[in-house]
Amino acid sequence: MEPSRWAAVCLAVVVSVIQMVACLAEEDTEINRGSFPEGFVFGTASSAFQFEGAVKEDGRGVTVWDTFSHTFGKITDFSNADVAVDQYHLFNDDIQLMKDIGMDAYRFSIAWSRIFPNGSGDINQAGVDHYNKLIDALLAQGIEPYVTLYHWDLPQALEDQYMGWLSPQIIKDYVMYAETCFQKFGDRVKHWITFNEPHTFTVQGYDLGLQAPGRCSIVRLFCRAGNSATEPYIVAHNVLLAHATAVDIYRKKYRETQHGSVGLAFDVTWFEPASNSTENIEATQRAQDFQFGWFIDPLMFGDYPSSMKTRVGSRLPKFSQSESFLLKGSLDFVGINHYTTYYAKANSTGIVGGLLNDSIADSGAITLPFKGLEAIGDRANSIWLYIVPHGIKSLMDYIKTKYGNPLVIITENGMDDPNNPFTSIKDAVKDPKRIKYHNDYLINLLAAIKEDGCNVKGYFVWSLLDNWEWTAGYSSRFGLYFVDYKDKLKRYPKDSVQWFKNFLTSIPSKK
Ligand SMILES: *[C@@H]1O[C@H](CO)[C@@H](O)[C@H](O)[C@H]1NC(C)=O
Ligand SMILES: *[C@@H]1O[C@H](CO)[C@@H](O)[C@H](O)[C@H]1NC(C)=O
Ligand SMILES: *[C@@H]1O[C@H](CO)[C@@H](O)[C@H](O)[C@H]1NC(C)=O
Ligand SMILES: *[C@@H]1O[C@H](CO)[C@@H](O)[C@H](O)[C@H]1NC(C)=O
Repeated sequence: MEPSRWAAVCLAVVVSVIQMVACLAEEDTEINRGSFPEGFVFGTASSAFQFEGAVKEDGRGVTVWDTFSHTFGKITDFSNADVAVDQYHLFNDDIQLMKDIGMDAYRFSIAWSRIFPNGSGDINQAGVDHYNKLIDALLAQGIEPYVTLYHWDLPQALEDQYMGWLSPQIIKDYVMYAETCFQKFGDRVKHWITFNEPHTFTVQGYDLGLQAPGRCSIVRLFCRAGNSATEPYIVAHNVLLAHATAVDIYRKKYRETQHGSVGLAFDVTWFEPASNSTENIEATQRAQDFQFGWFIDPLMFGDYPSSMKTRVGSRLPKFSQSESFLLKGSLDFVGINHYTTYYAKANSTGIVGGLLNDSIADSGAITLPFKGLEAIGDRANSIWLYIVPHGIKSLMDYIKTKYGNPLVIITENGMDDPNNPFTSIKDAVKDPKRIKYHNDYLINLLAAIKEDGCNVKGYFVWSLLDNWEWTAGYSSRFGLYFVDYKDKLKRYPKDSVQWFKNFLTSIPSKK
């Protein structure tokens, strides 16, 4: 053989070896539905205010988010959610989209103000009819409803009457609304989520004032009223008691016949110490106490974390013995909305009573996605969303260890791309970064289950569709489906739809 032929053969051998190695490497990390335990649920998530639109239809009452979004300067792109992605009318088409991907479940929220337009009082039958139609349509396609009762859209009437979550009066009205939903829908809905991200709406709404109802005292120019040092703690307290009371009623009156379960969806950023100094390790724990512990500790242990009691002192409301008893154990599952991981370090500035007098300063921790100039991971479109896949595994391990391995459902996980009006639809549906995000987070979630024995039973993608992302308006696209805001809200599958389709329909491997 002539030398050039030899070279060709050698090259061919080398290429096929590389291919084999690449193939092995790929096989090593390739995951699909079959990699997860039997019965593990995959779904997509949404919320009424971000998806429905139709804000004036069928007797729906005004909510605090209608008011806030129509206040000049609150929403970055000056939009509102009056139409949103019109799921109120398009739900049948959207259910078909879920079916096309192969999803098992759909997490949506009921708008309190469609059921009780004034928050309490007479039931609005048209609102009940709407959710009956939605639930029946999902079940007809074999898609399991996971229903959030409160996803931030408080009826404005209750804000006007007694300042909403700041008053303990709200507990009775929330529980009445929740029980009405159990009565009307509980024959078909088996998974309830009492609240979505109580930490976020507490801090954003009553500490920083960046979300509805926009109360704060840290930047007086920005908020008309509020007290960032006290209100977040009062709001959280009422939310926790409302949750526990609703769960108690479900367990006493509905569980036996309806056989459902009730959880809550916590927002949890994972925190890593910026260094291994004792100071920073302790600050990291405090940051977690003031975020996750604030809400889950009372529901697991019957009281707030001790670091909060020490640092917040008399501004932290106290639970009576009977309240503590009601709270403890009031979760059938722990819903986790997880997107990102930050570094945490001790706040060592000695400035006594400085700029902030709020729950963030109380924590004595500073959390940032940077160490010096170095970011913790690649960033998505949102300025807060850094991609750190191993964070979900660390978080699952933490929950297992700290709370006795409870049943966990990932109620949200996802990333966003910018809404660039100059990008063609053909280019906008290419979303390799989203595919990698879900692949890498799912690999880490699977490791938490398989290697560490974490009791995780479901995973919901935020979100089915691009939608109205609160103060970011339509500027942020989290969807598996692209929504064309310029042409009748038409939906187009992004490449991630095909990725999930393959993931969900792959023959389960016996590994
Ligand atoms: C809500 O309150 C308004 C004003 O008080 C009242 O006109 C309306 O009838 C109420 N609606 C319902 C459904 O109770
Ligand atoms: C802290 O210690 C852990 C465990 O030994 C290690 O994995 C981590 O890299 C350390 N972190 C820093 C910032 O040095
Ligand atoms: C912080 O706010 C609380 C509650 O309003 C107040 O009692 C306290 O004096 C404030 N502290 C400082 C340093 O401003
Ligand atoms: C750090 O602590 C000081 C003193 O308590 C406080 O004034 C400041 O607002 C805190 N900074 C942050 C970012 O929490």
